Amino acid sequence: MCGIVGAIARDDVVPILLEGLRRLEYRGYDSAGIALADGGLRRLRTTGRVSELSKLVGEQQFQGMVGIAHTRWATHGAPSERNAHPHFSAGVGNVAVVHNGIIENHEKLRQRLQSAGFEFLSDTDTEVIAHLITLKLQQTSDLFEAVRLSIDDLQGAYAIAVIEEAQPERIIVARNGAPLMLGLGEHCNYAASDASALLQVTKRMIYLEDGDVAELRRDGYRIVNCLAGVTSKEVVRAVYESELTDTDVELGPYSHFMQKEIFEQPGVVANTLEIVLNAHSISPQLFGSDAEHIFKQIDSVLILACGTSYHAGLVARYWLESMAGLACNVEIASEYRYRDPVANPKTLVVAVSQSGETADTLAALAYAKSLGHQHTLAICNVPESALIRSTDLRFLTRAGPEIGVASTKAFTTQLAALMLLSVTLAKLRGKLSSEREREVIAELRHLPVALKHTLQVEDQVMVWAERFAHKNHALFLGRGMHYPIAMEGALKLKEISYIHAEAYAAGELKHGPLALVDEDMPVVAIAPNNALLEKLKSNLQEVRARGGELYVFVDSDSTIQQSEGMHVIILPEHTRLLSPILHTIPLQLLAYHVALKKNTDVDKPRNLAKSVTVE
Ligand code: M6R
Repeated sequence: MCGIVGAIARDDVVPILLEGLRRLEYRGYDSAGIALADGGLRRLRTTGRVSELSKLVGEQQFQGMVGIAHTRWATHGAPSERNAHPHFSAGVGNVAVVHNGIIENHEKLRQRLQSAGFEFLSDTDTEVIAHLITLKLQQTSDLFEAVRLSIDDLQGAYAIAVIEEAQPERIIVARNGAPLMLGLGEHCNYAASDASALLQVTKRMIYLEDGDVAELRRDGYRIVNCLAGVTSKEVVRAVYESELTDTDVELGPYSHFMQKEIFEQPGVVANTLEIVLNAHSISPQLFGSDAEHIFKQIDSVLILACGTSYHAGLVARYWLESMAGLACNVEIASEYRYRDPVANPKTLVVAVSQSGETADTLAALAYAKSLGHQHTLAICNVPESALIRSTDLRFLTRAGPEIGVASTKAFTTQLAALMLLSVTLAKLRGKLSSEREREVIAELRHLPVALKHTLQVEDQVMVWAERFAHKNHALFLGRGMHYPIAMEGALKLKEISYIHAEAYAAGELKHGPLALVDEDMPVVAIAPNNALLEKLKSNLQEVRARGGELYVFVDSDSTIQQSEGMHVIILPEHTRLLSPILHTIPLQLLAYHVALKKNTDVDKPRNLAKSVTVE
């Protein structure tokens, strides 16, 4: 999604703005731009990469001490230079605006502004903000006040940064429903939509809240909260020392962030499980001080999530049902928010999200609350996210920043967290003996090592990747709690290699998709040694009998042998309950290596954004 960086200092801020944009590239974008306020309002925009923008900056000796910059992921209007931000509005003060999010009432505003004589030069919803501010500057000469008045007219989600030629000693920013933070320095201050953009210059950050409008000067800042319907008042927001280091968001010895993140999994899963690895029992306190009280009241679980996080929820359903005896529904957030579900106040609503900023997940959670759901838990990777602030209970996965658009380490840490939740609820409901609890803890303790061993299948997976690179379609099969893992494997492959991939519960094959099977359709199967293995083997025979080529990931004791048309990779470890976590690894590696063979942009696949902050 779009990215914002702003900076005001005593010397040239352009290198900081460009480096900030470079660090936001991972979020996905299709154009980039930069504007400066001092020495006349100026801008450069391109539909190329940030490196292209840097080249233009160099050629035109573009320098200034107050500026805003943006990477745009097109929503309203095609990816083109005229639609790229910053957008200008000429008038009383000459303003420039960058914006993340969507202004839902932009058409109405556009008509109003056109009637007032404003000429629109782009197809974006953002340009209405620029003209609106100019209109308000006719009522007040103060830029802060003009922004504050303008946001009263905006409906939708936004994070904006505004500069004005007439008042080049400040940047005004505002947030409502899209992430935005301030970075504090010495005689220089910054704004960005993501902390990673600012780590190059500061670790001292303030996370703005919805309704906040802030003014940044070289030697200070102020924040006013202007939530609709409430009188505006100056507010003090906590200053955080970011725990992220520059290297957390750097590639190091790896070729891609996705590769780095796949190989980080043993470490980050260990970090996520740290509190339990040395314990003899798992405490509800892990989810918040009120967790025991809340967990004792619930009789079912509803998981809301999107994409990969949704797949984590689907795996958890098997755990919650079988271990805790709890009814569990898992819903795609974008669907749930528009249904008329019947709310049960005794349900624990669990929102799962890596970023904690996914618009659909946030809206689904808000909708669940509005229906009368009282107990909410967030499983999230970003401590400062909107999601973490929206629930009664929370569990932070400790995956560290995930930069690759294809989610990898966030998924396995979410699964680790959801296993802890399942164990906790099972215990509280008297479904887990102390002995069984100790066994599960022992499995969890071993998990990081098991993950490390599983990564060793990479060389074998690379051989398979060579064959997949020439295919246009693939099927992924799994049964039981490995069916969502098949879904995750298919999602990874299509996301980064652009090969069309579909996942099926293996038992469904003969109900339709078997018609697709021929020698050109590779069929990937996840075949752990569990109660469903014999059933799965029959499904695999159905594929072989139709000439389908099978690529099967097995446990060492799965008793599936390599044979004509049946390629087998044996996973070195077999952890029963946690098997979905281990079986995810080779699927991530397969997608990564197929993408490498196809020479796609692994970390920034076309059309996709890292954090989907718009509906
Ligand atoms: O940040 P979230 O976990 O809420 O994101 C949800 C999805 O957008 C995300 O998992 C997406 O499907 C990934 N690109 C998958 O690799």
